[in-house]
Amino acid sequence: MSLALDCRPTAALLPTAGARVPLVTGGTVDYANLDVAASSPALASVAARVAEALPLYASVHRGAGYLSQVSTALYESARDTVAAFVGARDDDVCVFTRNTTDSLSLLAGCLPADGAVLVLDVEHHADLLPWQQRSRDLCDVLTAAPTVAGTLQLLADALAARRYVLVAVTGASNVTGESLPLRRVADLAHDHGALLLVDGAQLVPHRRFSLAESGADWVAFSGHKLYAPFGTGALVGRRDWLDTGRPYLPGGGAVAQVDVGATTWVAAPHRHEGGSPNVLGAVALAAACDALSAVAPGALEQHERELRGRLVEGLDDVAGVRLLRIWSDSVDPTGVVSFTVDGADPGLVAAYLSAEHGIGVRDGRFCAHPLLARLGVAGGALRASVGVGTTSDDVDRLVAAVARFVTEGPSVEYAVVDGRHQPVADPRPVAGLAGADLSAVARGAGCGPTR
Ligand SMILES: Cc1ncc(COP(=O)(O)O)c(C=O)c1O
Repeated sequence: MSLALDCRPTAALLPTAGARVPLVTGGTVDYANLDVAASSPALASVAARVAEALPLYASVHRGAGYLSQVSTALYESARDTVAAFVGARDDDVCVFTRNTTDSLSLLAGCLPADGAVLVLDVEHHADLLPWQQRSRDLCDVLTAAPTVAGTLQLLADALAARRYVLVAVTGASNVTGESLPLRRVADLAHDHGALLLVDGAQLVPHRRFSLAESGADWVAFSGHKLYAPFGTGALVGRRDWLDTGRPYLPGGGAVAQVDVGATTWVAAPHRHEGGSPNVLGAVALAAACDALSAVAPGALEQHERELRGRLVEGLDDVAGVRLLRIWSDSVDPTGVVSFTVDGADPGLVAAYLSAEHGIGVRDGRFCAHPLLARLGVAGGALRASVGVGTTSDDVDRLVAAVARFVTEGPSVEYAVVDGRHQPVADPRPVAGLAGADLSAVARGAGCGPTR
């Protein structure tokens, strides 16, 4: 099952797309990418748009040349496309950033100095640390209740007990894919004089989202999770705090006038986009928005819903597998499923899935340490996630491989090297694609289970 659309990943750009990968047991197999929540392969149309824009690339904003003007037009029209994709209101602004983390840090620098922020303990660190970093006293982290209804009540109680300027919530959990009803949260926040930021990293690529319809004030998201891995993300929403807040990247383009003793900053978005912008990243992000907008309403959601259902059903049937949930009454989660296997180190299972089955999943704590600790899996879990290019065969392979792990265990020996499980004798080639040296993976060990 795969969408018969221009939504299959492109083999030209991504080694994960249609790639065959070596197995530790010999031979090669089609790579099953079930780590789409972390980063998603580029769409064919995104790659094509970037290739089309590349020969036109020139300096933007300040260049007088013809191609400079073309590049400027590409960049600024990408801004309009991205804003429209998330249902921006007429007076909203779209700031291009590197990713969701960047977008949230940018907004944190624009908050009223003594304004308190309310978040839940289910957040990704990117939606927790920037608020805490301003001052722990100005950030309350609420432990979510085991139900959506209970969590909404806790939010209402907290908002009644203290004056907050901002509520920051995930649009969809990067651990379970679950969501709160955003319209309800926006209404609650607004009723108590607070604004609402939605961390849309896991929502925007997988569900139609509209600032106008949800009532949210800002949404942050990443191009590399939206099938446009070219280094651009966005923060879209109200312009008031962004027009007056601390310029995020002070430099050329962010100013109207600089004198030795004083600087006059321009308004958002350029106020926060000092230096030469990532034009091709913005073009890629807009192309992804165009491609997803062109899909029939509901088709993407249905595709991922079916895959998620298959995944949950399959894993549920495997003895010793436990699926993680935040809320027992949440509806329509996105295609992100985290689970543990009784008695098994998640790092070992992930290494086995890769080495013996050519399946890519995520293991660890998913940059959500408080949530994983509360769910009783402080040692980490496994996460499988789906997207537009995922097939039912990918899902079936994962379920069968996990079941085989449970009944037979791995067929080769593994050891922990630099914090990661690896086959002890690994005949797979060390030199990877495009000159990448796979032994360098060890140097990224900090991105392993400690995350
Ligand atoms: C819910 C959520 N928020 C924020 C982020 C941070 O995104 P990025 O790494 O693109 O900045 C992630 C990344 O996985 C995420 O899943």
